[in-house]
Amino acid sequence: MKHYKIAILAGDGIGPEITKEAIKILKLVEQRNAVTFELLPALFGACAYFETGDAFPRETIEICDQADAILKGTIGLSHEESKKIPVDKQPERGALLPLRRRYNTYANFRPVSLPRQLAHFSPLKPEIIGDGIDLVIVRELVGGLYFGAKETGVNDQGLRYVKETLEYDEGQIRRILHQAFRLANRRKKVLHNIHKSNVLKSSVLWNEILEEVAPEYPDMEVVHLLVDAAATLLCLKPTQFDVMVMENMFGDILSDQGGGILGSLGLMPSACLGDEKAYYEPSHGSAPDIAGKNIANPYSMIGSVAMMLENSFGMDREAKNIWDAMQGVFGDGYSTADLSKSGSGVTMLSTDEFGDKVAAKLSEMPSAAGTA
Ligand code: IPM
Ligand code: MG
Repeated sequence: MKHYKIAILAGDGIGPEITKEAIKILKLVEQRNAVTFELLPALFGACAYFETGDAFPRETIEICDQADAILKGTIGLSHEESKKIPVDKQPERGALLPLRRRYNTYANFRPVSLPRQLAHFSPLKPEIIGDGIDLVIVRELVGGLYFGAKETGVNDQGLRYVKETLEYDEGQIRRILHQAFRLANRRKKVLHNIHKSNVLKSSVLWNEILEEVAPEYPDMEVVHLLVDAAATLLCLKPTQFDVMVMENMFGDILSDQGGGILGSLGLMPSACLGDEKAYYEPSHGSAPDIAGKNIANPYSMIGSVAMMLENSFGMDREAKNIWDAMQGVFGDGYSTADLSKSGSGVTMLSTDEFGDKVAAKLSEMPSAAGTA
């Protein structure tokens, strides 16, 4: 019997309610497979700050250190509420970036996927969705502007100024490119390299390293695309993409656009992998406006569980079952408030109802052990 420790960082806003549904699925996975999960809940985000004065408190760090994997919900407050916390202690700067830095989770995988049958969720026309969207954004997660040196002050003319640094060394670029090439190699063998080399020197170095790495993957096609053009093409012809690789800030922006073309960020789970530790999280924020209403879509959180099973625990088959179960629930004519309007021919599910339906579907599927 395998045994894994999972740190559970439910976070703020809708975090706790969607995490509850993820745990529902984890418990079911335990029943269906020769595995036990030890869940270790810990405070993280604004809730942690208000309780302890620190958004990523020492106790949480210790729990994450000893965990085999970390499952994170959502963090953050509304713009107004955020002002109650000093800038450097706010959950994004005070918890999320330190988490990424501590475990060096440099490789962020964000699947953007919508089968043809669910084209009605997307704001794009069905003919643009074609046979479905199925791409992965590979985002560098611990470098660039997010982590570069910052400076604020008053300049010679008495004007307040700010300086933020976009810095990468070749090792950081090389390792994320390898991750992207390896993924593309397992998929359609086409890698879209997203950059801004007509302006940014960081992109010039990025592309130089890519030229050095590419010969190690001889049967792969590399397509170079400027990030602004990529934004347009994601709307006009998303089906041309399979694996897209890019630096941190580009990946932040284009992955939200990915959620946009699917119809909701609620469909965007993610895996953040380092060489030693990984954590899993929805790509979206804490949606404080709908928190506690039991209407948030837990898809991104349950999808993050699927990514954890696959990447941290080698349970590929069960991960696929979870994806199929979620798509199956939508395929049966159900939807959630972020994806559809009531009265549009779908049956609307609350947060916990969606979790229940997914669990019911999963229960019907044979488990890897064949003991379901
Ligand atoms: C994301 C989020 C974070 C980011 C925020 C919450 C700091 O938008 O994971 O995409 O910008 O990386
Ligand atoms: Mg983002």
